[in-house]
Amino acid sequence: MKLTVSAGPLTDVAGDVLVVERYAGEPRLTPEAVRVDRALNGLLARALAEERFEGRLGETTHLHAAGRLAVKRLVVVGMGPRGECTPESIRRAASAALRRARDLGARTVATGVLGTRAPARVRAQALGEGALLGLYTFDRYKAKKDESRAVESLTVAVAERGERAAVRDGLRLAELTAEAASFARDLINEPANSVTPTALAHHAETIAKAGGLRVRVYDRAACERLGMGAFLGVNRGSQEPPRFIHLAYAPRRAGRRVALVGKGITFDSGGLDLKTAEGMAWMKGDMSGAAAVLGVMKVLPRLRPAVEVHGLIAATDNMPSGSATKPGDILRTMSGKTIEVNNTDAEGRLTLADAIAYALREVKPDELVDIATLTGACSIALGALCGGALANDPGLQRRVLRAAEEAGERLWPLPLIEEYREGLKSDVADLRNTGPRPGGAITAALFLKEFAGATPWVHLDIAGAAFTEKELPYAAKGGVGFGTRTLIAYVMAAGGRGMRRR
Ligand code: BES
Ligand code: MN
Ligand code: ZN
Repeated sequence: MKLTVSAGPLTDVAGDVLVVERYAGEPRLTPEAVRVDRALNGLLARALAEERFEGRLGETTHLHAAGRLAVKRLVVVGMGPRGECTPESIRRAASAALRRARDLGARTVATGVLGTRAPARVRAQALGEGALLGLYTFDRYKAKKDESRAVESLTVAVAERGERAAVRDGLRLAELTAEAASFARDLINEPANSVTPTALAHHAETIAKAGGLRVRVYDRAACERLGMGAFLGVNRGSQEPPRFIHLAYAPRRAGRRVALVGKGITFDSGGLDLKTAEGMAWMKGDMSGAAAVLGVMKVLPRLRPAVEVHGLIAATDNMPSGSATKPGDILRTMSGKTIEVNNTDAEGRLTLADAIAYALREVKPDELVDIATLTGACSIALGALCGGALANDPGLQRRVLRAAEEAGERLWPLPLIEEYREGLKSDVADLRNTGPRPGGAITAALFLKEFAGATPWVHLDIAGAAFTEKELPYAAKGGVGFGTRTLIAYVMAAGGRGMRRR
């Protein structure tokens, strides 16, 4: 769907559907809606009253324009109470309106910049994100693709001349963040027989070529030379060769250097500590962290923040076989620390340990963010709509949490309780890979902390939020692309906003 800006009043825009906003608890129509209502001889006001339309956030209804406007139909969307309007309500309302328009068979949709309170650029970005992400579907493998239901363009009418540039900027940002998140969703929704470690590496190479990024892909022998015994230990049971991926975006005037490490388990069977059928159900999505990192790297060259960004992914699946790592095996990481594997299903932290060690040695970042579907414990703690953020640096943690807030992705701080480190003690190695069940998200993070050393680091555990079993306000069932837009907001803030400066 294309996003465009048009000058002039809402009532002049042509198309199949015109979106009209309605706030809860307000008897009166908005000034734009009043103009629409006049053109319709009061039909809009009457229809809303008779439909008992309350203006609850995401509520929709539609009516025919009866040839009295340049559009065929109106879709009315509820915004919730005016005083509570946030960019996140705009995303949700935009998604609801566009889904309704799509279900009505609309190809061209027109709207004003929805919402209040925030500046026009921020509202336009939220509008574009909600619209684009709300319409996302994954139908590659369906014979019948519903092309009769595809919105081709969304035209945003901006009457005030002075706001047009800001709206254009906001929509451009929305296109990029939505492209990144949709790309991540595609990778997550693709099954593990298509997204192998080799395929992930090919995606990285394609992204690098298109955007002029540096890329290095290490095969098994190269990882051996680097000493990545933990990463390779996870790959031992697999028929699929491992790939370690290093993408780099390095603009000339970069300030900070940032490393983004994504968990890239293309399928997690648990290994010899095999999961149950139920536990394996969506383990094709155990590369959601990697998908988010690839999505970010894909759009960075067009966002142009003044910050150096390295994307790192240790890609492998986790499979049982005669050659698989066994409980009790001891692995030597790139950092030199040894790990007793007391549970082969705690594989993510093994791959991340080597990815973080690589980052410290080869990238030397000013700060490091990892994003991983790491623990069922985190999803038990925070549920399906929220990720956990654990950090060795409160300042960095705060900046990432602020980025999440901006992006409309829920992240919540969890504590790194030092006393729990005891649970990771091994009798035979420097560490073991799992502690007791209580506090499992915390011990997993404490394990990673051992490898981050003195580098400011924040760990995002997205096990609960990466994948959704039911449709969300602007995500379809399946991969959410969770964290992608948070990471973009974080990088943009770290780089002084790049293209957003005008
Ligand atoms: N990929 C899983 C975590 C996960 C679970 C993600 C459910 C999404 C939904 C991870 O590799 C894992 O298996 N973790 C174990 C750790 C345990 C063995 C300490 C877990 O959470 O059960
Ligand atoms: Mn596992
Ligand atoms: Zn896993």
